[in-house]
Amino acid sequence: MRIVDLIAKKQHGKSLTTEEINFMIEGFTTGEIPDYQMSAMAMAIYFQGMNDHERSDLTMSMVNSGETIDLSAIHGVKVDKHSTGGVGDTTTIVLAPLVASLGVPIAKMSGRGLGHTGGTIDKLEAIPGFTVELTQEKFIDLVNKNKVAVVGQSGNLTPADKKLYALRDVTGTVESIPLIASSIMSKKIAAGADAIVLDVKIGAGAFMKTEEDARQLAHAMVKIGNLVGRQTMAVISDMSQPLGNAIGNALEIKEAIDTLEGHGPEDLVDLCLTLGSQMVHLAGIGSNLAEARLLLEENLNNGKALEKFKEFVASQGGDASVIDHPERLPQAAYQTEVLASRDGVLSQINADEIGIAAMMLGAGRANKESVIDLAVGLMLRKKVGDTVKKGESLVTIHSNQLDVTAVENKIQENIMISEKAEPIQLIHEVIL
Ligand code: URA
Ligand code: CA
Repeated sequence: MRIVDLIAKKQHGKSLTTEEINFMIEGFTTGEIPDYQMSAMAMAIYFQGMNDHERSDLTMSMVNSGETIDLSAIHGVKVDKHSTGGVGDTTTIVLAPLVASLGVPIAKMSGRGLGHTGGTIDKLEAIPGFTVELTQEKFIDLVNKNKVAVVGQSGNLTPADKKLYALRDVTGTVESIPLIASSIMSKKIAAGADAIVLDVKIGAGAFMKTEEDARQLAHAMVKIGNLVGRQTMAVISDMSQPLGNAIGNALEIKEAIDTLEGHGPEDLVDLCLTLGSQMVHLAGIGSNLAEARLLLEENLNNGKALEKFKEFVASQGGDASVIDHPERLPQAAYQTEVLASRDGVLSQINADEIGIAAMMLGAGRANKESVIDLAVGLMLRKKVGDTVKKGESLVTIHSNQLDVTAVENKIQENIMISEKAEPIQLIHEVIL
């Protein structure tokens, strides 16, 4: 087999066989197939696409290019959730204890944030003492005992994806549905998931900017999951405005606590219940999604989800007293209100620019070396559709620097006040 022939085959719109895809990914991982040939192949895939079987073959080939996490010592169906990334997305922090409180094992491998979207690990580390540095053995023990644990990324998972993603990044081939879908799914499968729930975001703050692209990506990933024996469901949800009210690490922990206490922001609660019911249902609990949702609502209201959060925090070295005393979380030195310049209705809050404003305060990393400030961030006082009076606060800036003029200006430029607003639909589609 010669890679040059496979490039020509794909270039002419023909499908590659399982053997051909394995040959290509194995050769690329070892370096036998050079970057320039793989770039040509990525471009051929970009223009000609891949059918469902090529996509699932590519996914499994990338899974098999490196180590995989073996979660077979954990009892029950291990359901993982993946979000394509958003601003102020606190769902994982809420869902992990909430879903675990129904007995579903949550064995989550997570990462740090880069750019204007936050990472789950950074948020959890806002809790004093909390660590994600667990041995594989300790991680599995904790999931068996408490039903929930979060561990940092370790091991050489999906090296083919790492290498291919870096190549796509410099060859104009990132935005290809088959390549994105197999990239995301390979990482989830290598991390040991039996079943997968996907939150595909759309809007200004999302990776996928249009409804059509988001829909295609979601359907592509669900198809791959189901073809490779991992039951997969997806939700397409809004990321035109940030999710919930808090953006920033300690602020989002406080928001997660509020939500687990049963009084979270409406959009965050709704999304958590939608994604959570899919997770619970895939784990085999509840006879349908509606029943799963009711069970989750019950545990938000009866304190069981909150108790599970305390247990989870304490068992990973965290100070669980912050849950009853959130003022013990890292606090910023200054609070500055951003005021409405006129009366009206909030018609737009540009999620990605607001995420960048939070990053300017130090809540996120501009590059891999940046050190983040866990205390700082933004609290939205109003969301799209809310009426405002001139002089009312739109956003509270939590900062450790006195001068926040640049951040204030960025926020003002990215919040629109009009005569009326189009309502935002949070959940665009549920894909089963
Ligand atoms: N995120 C990924 O993990 N892979 C892609 O290809 C695109 C976004
Ligand atoms: Ca939030």
